[in-house]
Amino acid sequence: MTATPPRRTLVVREATRADLLEVFRIEKRSFPQPWPYGAFEGFLGTPGFLVAEYRDEDDGTEPGTITGYIVADTVPNHGSPIGHVKDIAVHPDQRGRGIGRRLLERGLAVMDDHGAARVKLEVREGNEAAISLYRQFGFSHHHTVPGYYDDGTNALVMVRPGD
Ligand SMILES: CC(C)(COP(=O)(O)OP(=O)(O)OC[C@H]1O[C@@H](n2cnc3c(N)ncnc32)[C@H](O)[C@@H]1OP(=O)(O)O)[C@@H](O)C(=O)NCCC(=O)NCCS
Repeated sequence: MTATPPRRTLVVREATRADLLEVFRIEKRSFPQPWPYGAFEGFLGTPGFLVAEYRDEDDGTEPGTITGYIVADTVPNHGSPIGHVKDIAVHPDQRGRGIGRRLLERGLAVMDDHGAARVKLEVREGNEAAISLYRQFGFSHHHTVPGYYDDGTNALVMVRPGD
């Protein structure tokens, strides 16, 4: 008889130091100008730095597999903070399975808990996967920053209005 493979669940939780190497690997495979490792270190302990981890359901003790992450924070704004999604990526082999949606949903909830219902982000013009994901969560194009990225590509600034 063949053994049944363990069922896996996806958990979204705050990032820890042990996650950083895998986060950095995914970053390098996802962006032409990846953040340096130290940038992620700097966000450790902040509530909007979350990772998605697959865990085997029959063993809660073994470390799981990191499949994606989001880095988001809030910016003070005359007593009404604005949320900022700074970085989000899913491992290339794991895309299209709802992981990005889960990460963004939790990241937005964290910012909302910190008083930031209004959220902004920058996205590379032409990054249709990301733009489509953001639209699903109520983001719309606010303005364009010409040549924002090092290779001269424009950034679209997208905003999700607060209530
Ligand atoms: C953007 C990204 C995080 C999405 O993660 P993901 O886990 O693949 O996305 P999901 O499976 O949760 O999909 C959620 C929605 O995103 C959009 N989307 C995802 N992949 C897409 C694709 N290849 N083409 C068009 N839309 C896509 C769809 O709207 C999708 O909703 P649907 O399933 O109802 O169609 C992922 O593609 C990624 O890591 N890209 C590289 C890094 C990056 O560009 N990050 C954004 C920086 S601004």
